[in-house]
Amino acid sequence: MLIASDHGGFELKQALVAHLRNQGVEVDDLGVNNLDSVDYPDYAALVAEPVSQGKEESGILICGTGIGMSIAANKFPGVRAALVHDQFTAQMSKEHNNANILVLGGRVLNPDDACRMVDVWLHGVFEGGRHQNRLNKIAELEHVE
Ligand code: RB5
Repeated sequence: MLIASDHGGFELKQALVAHLRNQGVEVDDLGVNNLDSVDYPDYAALVAEPVSQGKEESGILICGTGIGMSIAANKFPGVRAALVHDQFTAQMSKEHNNANILVLGGRVLNPDDACRMVDVWLHGVFEGGRHQNRLNKIAELEHVE
């Protein structure tokens, strides 16, 4: 599992990395490693590019609100980055959208809630069927000039 944040998501990232590793999930923490100000698109790309290329199955991105990371990550073909706010949206992001990147806001969530949201997404199952048809249509949009 790839994970990265900017400075606005750093503290939540640290909590999520510890939470995931406690569960035995292999986590590749791509930074940041401190609270120095950085540009979130640089860190979005570290996770979104390998997911887009099929080198990694999924990842987690965190910035202050989650907005910038989700905008940036969704520029990469094949990436379905879902900015989620609670357990319900985390669940739907997997069951309906098959989100391959979960995006969280470090300044809007408390760590315990965020850990539960990550668990719901990680252990959820994509329902396929009509939802797959919709994902196919999203993929077609990537080829619209
Ligand atoms: C950084 O101050 C902040 O803009 C960033 O973390 C994020 O919230 C952007 O969407």
